[in-house]
Parts: sequence; structure tokens; C-alpha cells
Amino acid sequence: MARQKTKWICQQCGYETASYLGKCPDCESWASLKEEIIHHKTKDKDTLIKNADFYMEPRLLKEVSTDEEIRFSTGYSEFDRVLGRGVVENSLVLLGGDPGIGKSTILLQVCGKLSENGIKTLYISAEESPKQIKMRAERLDIENDNLYIFAQTNLNIIIEEVRKLEPGVIIIDSIQAIFDPELSGNPGSISQVRECSSRLLNLAKYGSGAVFLVGHVTKEGAIAGPKLLEHVVDTVLYLEGDTYKTYRILRTVKNRFGSTNEIGVFNMTDKGLEEVNNPSELFLSQRSDATAPGSAVIATIEGTRPLLVEVQALVGSSSYSSPRRVATGLSHNRLLQIIAVLENRVGLNLSDYDVYTNIVGGISIEEPSIDLGVALAIVSSVRNVIVDKETVIIGEIGLTGEIRAVSNINTRINEAIKQGFKYAIVPENCNLDINISEQINIISIRRIIEAISKSIVRDKQNADC
Ligand code: TYD
Ligand code: MG
Repeated sequence: MARQKTKWICQQCGYETASYLGKCPDCESWASLKEEIIHHKTKDKDTLIKNADFYMEPRLLKEVSTDEEIRFSTGYSEFDRVLGRGVVENSLVLLGGDPGIGKSTILLQVCGKLSENGIKTLYISAEESPKQIKMRAERLDIENDNLYIFAQTNLNIIIEEVRKLEPGVIIIDSIQAIFDPELSGNPGSISQVRECSSRLLNLAKYGSGAVFLVGHVTKEGAIAGPKLLEHVVDTVLYLEGDTYKTYRILRTVKNRFGSTNEIGVFNMTDKGLEEVNNPSELFLSQRSDATAPGSAVIATIEGTRPLLVEVQALVGSSSYSSPRRVATGLSHNRLLQIIAVLENRVGLNLSDYDVYTNIVGGISIEEPSIDLGVALAIVSSVRNVIVDKETVIIGEIGLTGEIRAVSNINTRINEAIKQGFKYAIVPENCNLDINISEQINIISIRRIIEAISKSIVRDKQNADC
């Protein structure tokens, strides 16, 4: 028998080579190349057409309707928000997240709501038995006539059943557990994920409805499988959160039909995930001691939503030869830059101190408008004084110690007003709405040093200064 031809494929990025390499030349990951058997699909034209599970006849351009894409609600406004106002018909959505974070739960709940609203849904589990799914559904109080479940791993059978049932929404839990029997690799191997995802794309685009894929993430936090998986789908969502805490954040990483970095906030209860419609309130409710040194409230924007979050800092003398700088929820380099500005422009000597910073609530914030809040939390901790608890702090710090303007300043301040804040420290030359200063005291500043004198209070009498 002729020897089967093989190739080595990087399990991280999909790079292919004829022989083994210790390090992938494309994505530079080590020991990520695995040997897989080359699969030649038949070149026969009729079989090729048959192999395309769903396809469309060519149509005249003028006959293609340009009506707005059709969206429908999932029944959860937080879920609709991350999708960009609801599910787009015939879209392919990937939901990634750590094991046990709640991916299967949230999708089963969405199926429950959709089917209650008359949309035929099919939940395909390649990991759990129908009994297990039923037990979870009972716990979530899901019971209706439009929700079908199917435990299957073979993609051919899945497609056959979808063709017969014609559901409006299909869930595949998970992409790493299903396989195409015409390929030799194990489920989850790069060639399986690649082939299955392209067939599922075809199913979503030309089949009966939208498809949601569950994707497991690797230790490094990326969705397992080639980056191609993220390129193929229309929308990529991540479900994040601390498994030991109850709230979960659903984040849009890519969206062809809406803005990215949008978030939805949920709370895990014994009856599944509940929506949190006022996340600022949730995050601030955890401020057990707002008058402790090292705490400041910042206003960030996640997608289109303003969010107030507490930043904490702890500065203490270091017993290490090079002091520790720990940034949880913000970028490490950003923290180093803020410390450098505090040392050089404010004259704060932190070279013998460890600095720990944390964004409370397990949320990660990338945008630079939190700089000033982080800086003030550090100053507050090192000098053992408090940042006024009714002040919200907004501003990006430049390397000369200047405070830079931030986007959407009015949205941020309005959120602070809603949460009952009395003062807002903002960069000078912001385009503030005319009537905003009637509702909150605006303190405009140009340099970091001014912010320190205006937000740190030493005693109660100064609290309203
Ligand atoms: P699951 O959806 O199975 O996670 P994933 O599919 O991402 O691996 O979630 C499992 C976790 O959620 C498990 O630790 C139990 C918890 N859970 C609740 O707290 N309440 C519930 O009602 C349900 C269904 C699960
Ligand atoms: Mg699961």
C-alpha cells in the first residue's frame, strides 16, 4: 500500500510545512507543529457540487435585495447589545471562553428565549448527552415546543438533520468536538477545525438560519484552532470573568454587523445567567470602604456603553531587589509609564516601593482615559490619604505630565451624574455640553499635579473643596 502523504501543520496559526520544525516560522510558537495526513478532495465536478452542502444559483445583480439585514432579538438585551442590536439572519457567530465559564448555559438560555418567541432552534451538543442538556434546561426553566436538542459529533449527520429540520438558529457546542468523516485528523485538529468551520459558514450563509459556534480557548486565552476560525466568522464574542465570582462579561472582539468592544454583563445564579442592566452600579456596589486610601473611580467606555469602575492601588516598601509592578485589568506597560510620569513630573519616589494596581470587578480596560485615576490611586496609597469618594476621574496622562482630552466625555460624565457623583475631574478644553455643569461640579485640569491637589482630601472639612 502506498504510504499516505502527510504534512506538518501549526496548531496555533495553521502554517503548513513538509517536515517537522521546532518553532513555527509564522507565529513563532514552539512545538506547535503536528503531523496530519493530507486529504485530497475529489475533483469530480458533480461531487464537488454535492459536497457544497448549500449553495445558491447565480442571480442577476439587480434582483438581489438590498433591504437592511434582518435582525431578531435573542430576548436578552445584554446579548443583543454585543451582537449589535440582535442576531443577524444567516450570520456565523463564534463564542469563546474558558471551560466552565458558562458558554453552554448562556446559549441554552438564548435558545430557550428564541424558541419561546416562535423561532425554531436546534442545540447540537457534541460534548453532552441529551439527558445532561435536559437537566440543565430544567434548572433554567426552559420548556417549549420549538427547541430541539441533538447530541452528535459527525458533521455530515448534523448537516443532514439541519436540512430536514430547517431551524432559524443553530448552536454547535463545540467546534473542537465535531468532525468531518472524510478527513482523517482527530476532532479539534487544525484540518478538522478548518474544514468544519468552512462548511458551517456555508450552512450559515445559504442554509435556514444563523449559526452559533462554541470555541474553547487555549491556556494563552486565544480560541483554539487556527486564527482562520476568527477570520471566517462574522462575529467573535468572548465570555469572560472570574470562575470564582458570579458576574460574567460578554465581549465583542469582532463584529461585521456592529461595533467591537461592546460588552454585556451577566450574573451567574443558581438559575443560570441573569442580565445586569446597570453594570456601573454593580461594580461600584463592591466598594466596601470608599474612604480607604488607594481607591479612585474612573469612567470608561466599553463599545458604546459608559461604565464607572473602581481602581485600587497598594504601594508598600519593597523587599525585592527590583520592586514589583503588578497590573491587574490594565496593561503592565501603561502602569510603568504612569509610574515614570509620577516619579519625573510629580517628584514621587517609587523606586523602593512595590506597586500593585487592580481594576475591581475582573474587567480589563485598554483605553488610556483611566491613566489619571490609576495615578491618583497610587498617590493616595503612597501618601495614605483618600481620593474624594464623590469625585470621578477622567483623563489620559502624557509623558510631560499633561492631561489629554478623551473621547465621549459627555457620555462618561452623564453616567457619573446618574450614579450620584458630585465632582468630575476632566481634561481642560473638553467639549462639554452646555448644561452638564448644572448637574455636576466640573474641575478642569491641565497637569497631573493639579489633579492631585484637587482630588486628594486629607480631612473631612476639605471633602467638598
Ligand atoms: P457551562 O455553561 O457548562 O460552561 P462552559 O460551557 O463554558 O464550559 O457552565 C458551567 C458552570 O456554570 C458550572 O460551574 C455551574 C455553573 N452554573 C450555575 O452556577 N448556575 C446554573 O444555573 C447553571 C446551569 C450552571
Ligand atoms: Mg460547555
